[in-house]
Parts: sequence; structure tokens; C-alpha cells
Amino acid sequence: MSSHTAIEPSILYFGTPVVLLSTENEDGTFNLAPMSSAWALGRTVVLGLGREGQTARNLLARPDLVINLPAPHQWPAVERLAPLTGRDPVPATKAAGYRFEPAKFAAAGLREEPSHTVRPPRAADCPLHLEARAERIRPDLSGDCVIVETRVLKVHAAPELLVPGTHHIDPAAWSPLIYNFRHYFGLGPELGSSYRTETPREAGVG
Ligand SMILES: Cc1cc2nc3c(=O)[nH]c(=O)nc-3n(C[C@H](O)[C@H](O)[C@H](O)COP(=O)(O)O)c2cc1C
Repeated sequence: MSSHTAIEPSILYFGTPVVLLSTENEDGTFNLAPMSSAWALGRTVVLGLGREGQTARNLLARPDLVINLPAPHQWPAVERLAPLTGRDPVPATKAAGYRFEPAKFAAAGLREEPSHTVRPPRAADCPLHLEARAERIRPDLSGDCVIVETRVLKVHAAPELLVPGTHHIDPAAWSPLIYNFRHYFGLGPELGSSYRTETPREAGVG
């Protein structure tokens, strides 16, 4: 007898960090969209985006973006963006309840801050910003989404996240906001560290 139950879940959002993507609209204004299908491979960040969203459209035409990482306490700002799209009219393929919103920063209650290397602004209130450029965009297997490979050009971190005097993010100071089967979580207590860590803790944890 199997120890597991075979299931047909409607989603497979098994817990990935939320990011807010700033991109440039056709008219020179800026869009801000939450997403959680994002992961890093060296200086490349790979994104999975719905093909019909404003963000995918923007990146196909204007590849500059900022990948803003919110802290766990900012989940209400993320959720304020959740029913919004920068696309007008709202595409028929969007789930019911979506509405067009051209001023997403204001709608989220987040401030814009100029970037150094790209045109879209950073979300000043988020502790980490990755200025980046979309260099390869291709359809996913379903045809409903695109896989976007972005190259990170510049990283900005809130000073309180840094190991003093280094370029290292202190893993004890930073927590991503995790999207876990459509619920928001922060990190729990540290369990241990990799043998490759460059920020060892003096005392062992756990
Ligand atoms: C926490 C969260 C995570 C999301 N993750 C993704 C994602 O990984 N990919 C995606 O295409 N949409 C994701 N969405 C939905 C987009 O935010 C939504 O499609 C939005 O309308 C996109 O905005 P835009 O049309 O202005 O680009 C997520 C939404 C939330 C609230």
C-alpha cells in the first residue's frame, strides 16, 4: 500500500518568493506586478509570466525591468496589487475579478525610486532591488505563459540586511515573502547552513 495519496491539485505553488516586477508601459508610464515564479541561477533570474499580462507585453517590447523583493510584512501591499492588471481592456483570459489599474505603485501604496541602469523605477519600500534586462523570452510548454531569462545588472540592498563591511546579505536579517499555495508566509527560524556559506554564524544554530 502506498504511503501517499495521488491527487489532482488545481495549483502547484509550493512556496516560492514573491517579487514585484517594474516594467515600462507603451506610453512611458510604469507597471508593477506581483509574481512568484522566479528563481536565480548566478546572475540570471528566470521568470514565468502569463502571456496575456501587461508585464509580458512590456518585456517583449521594452526589456528593462526591476525585480523588487518585498519583506514578509509587506504582504498586504502585494495583495492590493493582486486583482489589478496594467492591461486595458482586461484580457478575456484573465480570471474574473481583475480590473485595469494604470497607477499600480500608488494603488499598492509603494513609492517609486529611480533606477541606476534601467528605465523602470525601483519600489523604494522593498528591501532588495535587482535591476535587470530580459534577454531571452520564449513560450512555455502550455503556450499560456512565457519563460523570461533576465540578466541582473545591479543589486541594491537596504543597509540593515548587510553583513557590515561586506557585500553579503545577512541570511539572518533577510526573509523573503513566500507564496505557499496562495497563502503568504515568511521564513521560520534558521535550521542550519550550507558548507559553502560565506556568512558563517559564530554559534551553531538549532
Ligand atoms: C503573490 C502572487 C504571485 C503571482 N505569481 C505569478 C506568476 O508567477 N506568474 C504570473 O504570470 N502571474 C502571477 N501572478 C498574477 C499576476 O500578478 C497577475 O496576472 C497580474 O494581473 C499581472 O499584472 P499585469 O497584467 O499588469 O502584468 C501572481 C499574483 C500574486 C498576487
